[in-house]
Amino acid sequence: MLKIEGLRAGYKGTEALHGISLEIRQGTIVAAVGANGAGKSTLINALSRLVDVNAGAITFDGQNIVRMSAPEVVELGIVQVPEGRQLFSALTVTENLRLGFHRLRQRRASALFRERLDYVYELFPKLKERADQRAITLSGGEQSMVAIGRALMADPKLLLLDEPSLGLAPIVVERMFNVLQVLRRSGLTILLVEQHADEALALSDYGYVLSVGNIAAEGTGESLRNHESIQQAYLG
Ligand SMILES: Nc1ncnc2c1ncn2[C@@H]1O[C@H](COP(=O)(O)OP(=O)(O)OP(=O)(O)O)[C@@H](O)[C@H]1O
Ligand SMILES: [Mg+2]
Repeated sequence: MLKIEGLRAGYKGTEALHGISLEIRQGTIVAAVGANGAGKSTLINALSRLVDVNAGAITFDGQNIVRMSAPEVVELGIVQVPEGRQLFSALTVTENLRLGFHRLRQRRASALFRERLDYVYELFPKLKERADQRAITLSGGEQSMVAIGRALMADPKLLLLDEPSLGLAPIVVERMFNVLQVLRRSGLTILLVEQHADEALALSDYGYVLSVGNIAAEGTGESLRNHESIQQAYLG
């Protein structure tokens, strides 16, 4: 579904990804793990077309998306849950979710909106109870659900998650990862970027270890977890 070849990307004057290649198959969860500054967010933002790509190709469902704009890739079905969630704290849960719905000009837009909202509330019943509560008053776990829910409102094919477990208690992370498994079973493809490597790899079909802008190792989630020297060198 997604293939990255020789991707170089970064910021004015600093290259953060030095020619990485990776592949994400339809209906799988792929983890990209690595320490602070490894380039995880840069990878997600390159796919979302929010950072400059200097070289390489990103092919999604057969199309090179490198020259596309951020709204164009969302339209194709690549949607991200950004690092730190980025909710609108003064808006309610439903209002935040509404911001993820972008098919406003489509025929039957309001019916489609209701359908997506019902789907998200079915997935996260806790959020439904808090539909009219302002985002700032939610717990960290609930806020992450809203951030994931908002991305799902766009009806993605490929969901990009940038450290969704940040700041959450282990039990809350476990619940969220269970939801990711439910989403995979429903056919969604997921790229999960995490510093909590062990848990992320346990959940994933395949994983990549990023180290200062390069891919240091790759393999099935299980094989990376069980690899002594990779554990020691990169995953602590
Ligand atoms: N806006 C920016 N301008 C310049 N350099 C940046 C910018 N954002 C990130 N970088 C640099 O790019 C490199 C990769 O950063 P990136 O944010 O992708 O890492 P990360 O793996 O997501 O780290 P973390 O786990 O801390 O979120 C770092 O060296 C960082 O300093
Ligand atoms: Mg990051």
